[in-house]
Amino acid sequence: MSLDFAQIVPYIPFIVNGIKVTLQVTLLSVVFGFIWGSLLALIKISNIRLLKGFAVAYTSVFRGTPLILQLTFVYFATPQITGYNISAFEAAVLTFTLNSGAYISETIRGGIMAVDKGQWEAAKALGVPYRKMMTDIILPQAVKNILPALVNETIALLKESALVSTIGLADIMQNANIVKGTIFRYFEPYLLAGLLYYVMVMLLTWVARVLERRMRRSD
Ligand code: ARG
Repeated sequence: MSLDFAQIVPYIPFIVNGIKVTLQVTLLSVVFGFIWGSLLALIKISNIRLLKGFAVAYTSVFRGTPLILQLTFVYFATPQITGYNISAFEAAVLTFTLNSGAYISETIRGGIMAVDKGQWEAAKALGVPYRKMMTDIILPQAVKNILPALVNETIALLKESALVSTIGLADIMQNANIVKGTIFRYFEPYLLAGLLYYVMVMLLTWVARVLERRMRRSD
């Protein structure tokens, strides 16, 4: 066994630099995914038959197929038959947004449905109009379930974002791949990549825990 960390020292900044792309893809996708997911959730709790059918099928497909396959479809397969041009970065954010929207829509729908039935009944019994019931009674309580789950979704996306290396985006994973190909050593560059992901995930985990505690305090 031989480890030689001296060899990767000159490449450390290069791998660390991948954090930028990793974070950009993750954060943009979670923000757009939240918007798209909210819309899907709204549709799912509505009574518009056709749209509802679409939202349910959409969620099923995006949760039922591998993310790496979806990425390949957006970046390679669809452009081949339609002729559209898309950069690797755009394809990554688009795919992760579409995928995350499916997961987030369920998080939001679940969060709303988890609000105690008595709250809905009381609001109805008091004659609170639907819209006011939603904005003033149901949603403020649903947020408690939804917010920590959204941080967890961000954690999932952050880790899954390593998949963008398969379409050549220079994220942490891809930069580690490049260093491996340059110095012909696997262990050291991937150890560093792993450390970087782990530290970011731990930071987010801490955020989730603080949020959860704060949400519970208001009960
Ligand atoms: N590994 C799963 C897949 O390949 C993860 C899907 C993404 N997860 C998420 N929460 N957006 O399908």
